[in-house]
Amino acid sequence: MKRDKTIFDLIEKEHLRQLHGIELIASENFVSDQVLEAMGSCLTNKYAEGLPGKRYYGGCQVVDEVETLAIERAKEMFGATWANVQPHSGAQANAAVMMAVMDAGDTFLGLDLSHGGHLTHGSFVNYSGILYKPVAYKLKEEDGTIDYDMMEALAKKERPKMIVAGASAYSRDWDYARMRAIADEVGAILMADVAHPAGLIVTKLLNNPFPHCHIVTTTTHKTLRGPRGGLIVVAGDFENPWGRKTPKGQVKTMTQLLDSAVFPGIQGGPLEHVIASKAVAFGEALTDSYKEYIKQVQVNAAKMAECFIESGYHVVSGGTDNHSMLIDLRSKFPDITGKQVENTLVLADITVNKNMVPFDSRSPFQTSGIRVGTPAITTRGVKEGQIVKIVEFIDEILSDIDNDSTIASVKKKVNDLMKDYPIFAY
Ligand SMILES: Cc1ncc(COP(=O)(O)O)c(C=O)c1O
Repeated sequence: MKRDKTIFDLIEKEHLRQLHGIELIASENFVSDQVLEAMGSCLTNKYAEGLPGKRYYGGCQVVDEVETLAIERAKEMFGATWANVQPHSGAQANAAVMMAVMDAGDTFLGLDLSHGGHLTHGSFVNYSGILYKPVAYKLKEEDGTIDYDMMEALAKKERPKMIVAGASAYSRDWDYARMRAIADEVGAILMADVAHPAGLIVTKLLNNPFPHCHIVTTTTHKTLRGPRGGLIVVAGDFENPWGRKTPKGQVKTMTQLLDSAVFPGIQGGPLEHVIASKAVAFGEALTDSYKEYIKQVQVNAAKMAECFIESGYHVVSGGTDNHSMLIDLRSKFPDITGKQVENTLVLADITVNKNMVPFDSRSPFQTSGIRVGTPAITTRGVKEGQIVKIVEFIDEILSDIDNDSTIASVKKKVNDLMKDYPIFAY
C-alpha cells in the first residue's frame, strides 16, 4: 500500500515541534519508546468486548493476558483491590462512575470549573451537568485553597448522592479524610478524580485517596506518563447502597456496577493496544527510576513557583504541592490576558495554556491566568537550574509582549536550551 506521505510528514512536523519547544502544559507528557510501541501494535486489530475470561468474541486469549497484567499493575500502583483499565479517557472514566452511582437528575458536588474543577465535574456543557444536578464548591478567596466548610454546608443542604474530589488546576493536596467525613454525614459516595496528580500519589509524595474514597478515577497520560486513556480503581468492594440487583436477584457490588457502566454502559470494544501501553506505563511507574523522575517533577514545580513569585507574579495559593500551578497575571500585568500570553509564548516555542483564576474578572476565552506544569520538561531531563532560565524567558517576553525581536531572541534561546534534552529517555 502506498505510504500516506501527507500524514507522516505532518507527524514529523509535530515531532519537531515537540523536540524544539518547552512544553509547560501541566496535563501533557512524553511517553517512553516502549509505551509508544505498544500503542502502535497489532493489538489494535482485536475486538474484545467484555472482561478477561468473559468476552463476547473468540481469539481473546492473548489480549486477556495483556489486560490482566494491566489490571494487576494498576492495583499494585494504587494499593487497590479492583481496577477497570478500559475507559478510553478520563472523561469516560468519570462518566462510568456517574452512571454507576447516580440516576439522571441526581445531585452531586464538584469543584467549580472556574476554581480549577474539570468539565466532567458538573459543567453545564458536559454530560455531568446535563444529565445530573451538579452543585459547585469553591476555593477560599483569602488563600486559594479548597473551602471544606462550604463543601460541608452544601452537602448538608443538598444531600448529594456523590461528592467529587479532584481538579484540573489546583496545586495543593486534598484532605480526603475530611471529605469522607462529610460524605458519611450525608450518605454520599466519595470519588476522587486524581487525573493530574496520580503519579505523585502512587509514589506517596501526596496523600493517598484510599482508604477514604470509595472510588478513584484517573487519566493515564498526565503525570502517569502513559498512553492517552482512563482508569478506575477501588480498594475494598461493597454492596451498592441502593440495592440494584443482578438478573439473579443478588445485590450488585460497586465494582460490578462500575464494570457494567464501562461496558456495555458507555463504551463498546476496549482499545487493547492502548491497554497494553497502559500496562507498560504502569510497569514503569512501579520502578525506582520513575520515583526519581516524579520527585524531580515536584522539585521543579516548587522551584518554578518560587521563581514566578520572585519575579512579581501571584501564584494562586502561594505555591504548589504537586506538578502544576496557576499564575494570576493581574498582579504584574493587569492588562495582559491569559489568551494573549498563550498566543505570544507559542511564537517563542513555549507552550502553556490560558486558564481562569479563582474569582476571575475575565471570561474563559480570555482569562487572567495561565496554568503551567513540569511533568513534560522533567521527562526531558530539565532540573532546577534550567527552571530558573525558563521563568526568565517567560518574564522577558511578558515584559515586552508586543516586541517581535524579543520574541525571536527568546525563541532562539529556547531552541538552543532544548537541544541538550532528548524527548525519549529510554
Ligand atoms: C481532573 C480531570 N479529570 C478528567 C479529565 C479528562 O480526561 P480526558 O481528557 O482524558 O478525557 C481531565 C483532563 O484534563 C482532568 O484534568
